[in-house]
Amino acid sequence: MHLGLDLGTSGLKGLLIDDEQVILAEAASPMVATRPYDGWSEQRPLEWISAAKNVLNMLHRKVGLSSLQSIGLSGQMHGATLLDKSDRVLRPCILWNDTRSHAEAAAMDIDPEFRIVSGNIVFPGFTAPKLRWVKKHEPQVFDQVAKVLLPKDFLRLWLTGDHVTDMSDAAGTGWLNTGQRSWSDGLLAKTALRQDQMPRLVEGSEISGSLRQKLRNQFGITQEVVVAGGGGDNAASGIGAGVSKAGDAFASLGTSGVLFAACDGYSPDAASAVHTFCHAIPNMWHQMGVILSATDSLNWYCRLVGKDVLTLIGQLGTLQAPGKPVFLPYLGGERTPHNNANARGAFIGLEHVTSTTAGARAVVEGVVHAFRDNFNVLSSTGTKIERIMAVGGGSNSDYWLEALATSLNMPIDVPVSGDFGGAFGAARLGMMAVGASDEIITRPPVYKTIQPNKDLIQAFIDAHEGYCEAYKMVKNLT
Ligand code: XUL
Repeated sequence: MHLGLDLGTSGLKGLLIDDEQVILAEAASPMVATRPYDGWSEQRPLEWISAAKNVLNMLHRKVGLSSLQSIGLSGQMHGATLLDKSDRVLRPCILWNDTRSHAEAAAMDIDPEFRIVSGNIVFPGFTAPKLRWVKKHEPQVFDQVAKVLLPKDFLRLWLTGDHVTDMSDAAGTGWLNTGQRSWSDGLLAKTALRQDQMPRLVEGSEISGSLRQKLRNQFGITQEVVVAGGGGDNAASGIGAGVSKAGDAFASLGTSGVLFAACDGYSPDAASAVHTFCHAIPNMWHQMGVILSATDSLNWYCRLVGKDVLTLIGQLGTLQAPGKPVFLPYLGGERTPHNNANARGAFIGLEHVTSTTAGARAVVEGVVHAFRDNFNVLSSTGTKIERIMAVGGGSNSDYWLEALATSLNMPIDVPVSGDFGGAFGAARLGMMAVGASDEIITRPPVYKTIQPNKDLIQAFIDAHEGYCEAYKMVKNLT
């Protein structure tokens, strides 16, 4: 039995599979992020541990954990979890969608070494500029930092007692030499940090440590339980959705929106705002475009109009040509392709007849146009996308998927019902750490393929142009 734990932003999920990769049980514990000031987004690391305890207890009650062989970890990337020399948490974790360090990020990004060595723009969401922000604004905290961990690696510390991260998550810090898969002393020094303040690096499918005796006793486990390196949530989802060969891609409609393509070589193009990270398996990389607010935009809209998401999405009916109002989903800034932490959302073209449903349709279309932007930049970097698998909560909406397929003019595969995301990918990485070959990384069976709506392709192209114009108009206002 193998456990995948995925520490998301809105909840922690656990999924147990057997040696045949059949799902035995799932459990989840919700979490929230706090936004105390504009652009801030934080969580308390100890709440992740409480959530992990809940999930482990639920799984133990459901099927028992005594035959557990491995654990794989997946998690929201980039968060700065700062620990003192006794592994005490120094401040709330500054999350991936926190843009407070945009000035620090811009200043670091001017230094060409960051893009050359890490292969990426220094985005405000990345870990390195957060540490520069802490050094400037909370020097008493910075002075006590003994270790900087990524969110899932704080869970690992609790599970194993070891400070370890994997290559895919490490690539999102801004301190990794992404081509060589090693920490860069030069980049760390630019943030006044040293390698001994970083976790040890392993590949996602390698062993990082083993489950502490105390936790084994608690769940009646007598054998060793290996904890694999795991992956950042996108790389782990890639493993879960079988996206591990060049040409394969997935589109994730989650809190963030991600268009992710596996690559068999390292060919960064930082200027395009495409992310080039290590994959969670050796000798592979991936490129992705990141939209900061995907389902988060629809959740925001539903809160605003006082409607439930499922009800509202159910009212969208069959796919229509994009309507008058244009929605820009930049509620908390945007990464790809704009790299603009100050961008903000907008509705343009509202009229007397604009209904709540028309607003929801515009929100869905806005996110789709943002995916089109990402598709364009990934294609311009030469990344092959031959087939796309849909993952994430938003992919339950056929309306959303048909709009996306139409906008990209590319069919989108929907896996059979089941969970093929980060938790499943993490469980697969756990299996590999105890000896399974990479042949277990298969694509899930396709339940249906959503085809582009040929009659609406031109309408979506035109609407995308309008969307780009709308961004140009509001860019200087926000
Ligand atoms: C990726 C990113 C997000 C988070 C969300 O660069 O910031 O996808 O990992 O969990």
